[in-house]
Amino acid sequence: MRLTILWALWLLESATAMRLLPSKNDKTEKVYILQSNDDGWAELGLRLLNDELRAKGHEVFVSAPAENMSGQGKMDKPPTPRTEACHYDSCPAGSNLDHGFNETRPDLAWVNSYAVTATRFGLRVYAKQHWKGKWADLVVTGLNVGANLGADVEKSSTCQAAAWIAWRDQTPAIAFSAATRTRLPWNHQPVPDISRVHAELAAMITQKIIDGGKPYLPKFRYLNVNFPAPHEGCSKVSDFKFVLSRIAEPGPKDKDVEWCGTRKLPLEKDVVQRQGCFASISMGNTDCPSPSTAQSEQKAVLKKLRDVLSCLPEKA
Ligand SMILES: *[C@@H]1O[C@H](CO)[C@@H](O)[C@H](O)[C@H]1NC(C)=O
Ligand SMILES: *[C@@H]1O[C@H](CO)[C@@H](O)[C@H](O)[C@H]1NC(C)=O
Repeated sequence: MRLTILWALWLLESATAMRLLPSKNDKTEKVYILQSNDDGWAELGLRLLNDELRAKGHEVFVSAPAENMSGQGKMDKPPTPRTEACHYDSCPAGSNLDHGFNETRPDLAWVNSYAVTATRFGLRVYAKQHWKGKWADLVVTGLNVGANLGADVEKSSTCQAAAWIAWRDQTPAIAFSAATRTRLPWNHQPVPDISRVHAELAAMITQKIIDGGKPYLPKFRYLNVNFPAPHEGCSKVSDFKFVLSRIAEPGPKDKDVEWCGTRKLPLEKDVVQRQGCFASISMGNTDCPSPSTAQSEQKAVLKKLRDVLSCLPEKA
């Protein structure tokens, strides 16, 4: 009898260890993520974030412009046949195709058009085909080369692609940008340590949003996340602190969620430009007015991210 119980216990334990049974704190829910950017499908930042998201067990499909399409705002035109090679020689010249895939990684697609176009065609057509009809749970854009703070978000197609999706396709979207200048091809070696750290942090924030359950984000809003320019003392994942912020100054009647002892969140540019390793997380508007108040939306995001957020210290 005793032996039978021991044996049953042993069986249970090994089943858990082998992940046959879900363990209590198992949060590895697999979600379908569409990824894009405006710097081009072969930009290193996008690929590093792709690696990190896949390492977390998610299905990730990339659909991004064939070349650098930075700063084109909401531009959106049907893809056209491409005769030249893609940026960094990442697709062959003379294909005459309006989109194409990496031959051995059919989950990586380039689209010969703007970022908004590449993202929405990816969501509605290419990723859906790849996943046999499944619609993405979440859209992630970036890591963008260069910060997108304040009024920049209107010009940035990395942000506007996220905004378009959040409104028109009502799919939650997060835009990630880092205040770096260097553009590098996907296969560049060695990978700069700081780029890897940004990608790890971006995947961590994405995972937090997923772990908080659906709906991932407030309706008609996207999340705008920015990392500061690389500088001394900000080289490891543990050096960075995330601060809940706002993109623009509040209107006279706007009250933010109560957080860090006030009812006014700091501007994201003041967070990222502050001495230290502060990254900003703000709610991005779309062209669609929201059905709820900014305050209640901030509250929903705060609930999910609370344990990874810090308060900006008083200015010295
Ligand atoms: C990418 O596009 C942006 C905006 O048009 C421009 O400022 C930048 O120089 C371009 N980069 C490259 C490598 O072409
Ligand atoms: C395509 O995928 C292969 C296999 O992962 C990789 O070796 C190659 O660098 C990729 N090329 C591009 C442009 O993505």
